[in-house]
Amino acid sequence: MRFQELPRLLLLLLLLLLLLQGPAGGAARFDPTWESLDARPLPAWFDQAKFGIFIHWGVFSVPSFGSEWFWWYWQKEKRPKYVDFMKNNYPPDFTYEDFGPQFTAKFFDANQWADILQASGAKYIVLTSKHHEGFTLWGSEYSWNWNAVDEGPKRDIVEELAVAVRNRTDLRFGLYYSLFEWFHPLFLEDESSFFQKRQFPVFKMLPELYELVNTYQPEVLWSDGDGGAPDTYWNSTGFLAWLYNESPVRDTVVTNDRWGAGSICKHGGYYTCRDRYNPGYLLPHKWENCMTIDKFSWGYRRNAGSSDYLTIEELVKQLVETVSCGGNLLMNIGPTKDGTISPIFEERLRQMGTWLKVNGKAIYETHTWRSQNDTVTPDVWYTFKPESKLVYALFLKWPTSGQLLLGQPKATLRATEVKLLGHGQPLKWTSLKPNGIMVELPHLTFHQMPCEWGWALSLSNVT
Ligand SMILES: *[C@@H]1O[C@H](CO)[C@@H](O)[C@H](O)[C@H]1NC(C)=O
Ligand SMILES: *[C@@H]1O[C@H](CO)[C@@H](O)[C@H](O)[C@H]1NC(C)=O
Ligand SMILES: *[C@@H]1O[C@H](CO)[C@@H](O)[C@H](O)[C@H]1NC(C)=O
Repeated sequence: MRFQELPRLLLLLLLLLLLLQGPAGGAARFDPTWESLDARPLPAWFDQAKFGIFIHWGVFSVPSFGSEWFWWYWQKEKRPKYVDFMKNNYPPDFTYEDFGPQFTAKFFDANQWADILQASGAKYIVLTSKHHEGFTLWGSEYSWNWNAVDEGPKRDIVEELAVAVRNRTDLRFGLYYSLFEWFHPLFLEDESSFFQKRQFPVFKMLPELYELVNTYQPEVLWSDGDGGAPDTYWNSTGFLAWLYNESPVRDTVVTNDRWGAGSICKHGGYYTCRDRYNPGYLLPHKWENCMTIDKFSWGYRRNAGSSDYLTIEELVKQLVETVSCGGNLLMNIGPTKDGTISPIFEERLRQMGTWLKVNGKAIYETHTWRSQNDTVTPDVWYTFKPESKLVYALFLKWPTSGQLLLGQPKATLRATEVKLLGHGQPLKWTSLKPNGIMVELPHLTFHQMPCEWGWALSLSNVT
């Protein structure tokens, strides 16, 4: 090749590249319509991840009483429990805003959080960057004096956690964001115009959301709180088209379905449908079960008792049921105003991690099987890895007989192998007619058990 041919060759290559980038080869463009946005395939990492941690933290963590809806229940609904709590513990002119400076985050150590979160076995986290109270955990340009940099911690919490999580763990960093704010004057004015006026989204919510995504590049954007307003008021489709087409996270970001009145369980990315959603059957659309370790609150409660927290057995059950039915589990913790993760939350997180160390193969990157739960033995749930042709049977009760009867799998003589995860030796089994298999579990002493709160069998060559 002669030297002067090089530029021409390069030009040709460039042309070829441009052609390949056409409608067939390039990244899809999305229109600001639900039809177009709903057709976006969910980035694959999300379904593979299966397990995330939700973190509800904000000024509501200061009263840490009742619920993260404290402000609303106290001042809007005037529930006696909350009114009395204030009357008995604070001066009469004390306002919710006065809790702001007490949100000190004095012991907040993002690296320590990141290590605990990693130890849970989760693959992503979702932090409340702003709840319905409007207080932003980053120095929002649009939340003057009601954000963590000007008030309270005087630190950029979102930044600190994003850096720690990205630096120390392989977890994806996600953010929750409440569209509406209970008492924002612009929102209240819009509301009284039946959302004909759109001052709040134009001057507050949309600019803030762009700022949040551009600055912190969350890979989960967990929208919430439509305030009764339709998605057209929020311009959700306009924003999502930008998020999917132009934003710095356009290739990897996932979103949920809470983008305006009526959009839940219908539009957006994956479905959340309602809080603590766990249908118990297979859904045709990717979904997430967002739930709380504290049965009664998302935010920290100082007066919670130990029986208010789900046990590790109950949490493992949630994870197993959810994943078998095609969902992800987003398990919530509520840190204290000091920025600590209380020992009971930390313990549950570490227990989950211990369990996943043994049984992760039956959870991460699995697919749903033809059957979600067993038809004969209750509390047996199935997952599937098509690549390795393995079916996993997760069982939550160790049968006293030492024999586990599975009514669903059809085994093949001399081909099917059954193993207990964390144990390794092939187990004896017998085929049942017309289908089903009886597995002889190993005789293990307590200390030989691979784990204590649920087990998984891998079955090869079953149909
Ligand atoms: C990332 O972690 C390393 C090792 O733990 C530490 O030395 C470094 O300062 C951290 N970087 C940031 C930006 O925090
Ligand atoms: C909605 O957002 C899109 C994309 O940013 C913008 O082009 C459009 O003008 C917005 N519409 C309204 C009604 O705000
Ligand atoms: C499990 O499977 C049975 C069918 O054998 C079904 O009746 C039941 O509703 C399923 N779901 C749960 C949550 O047990």
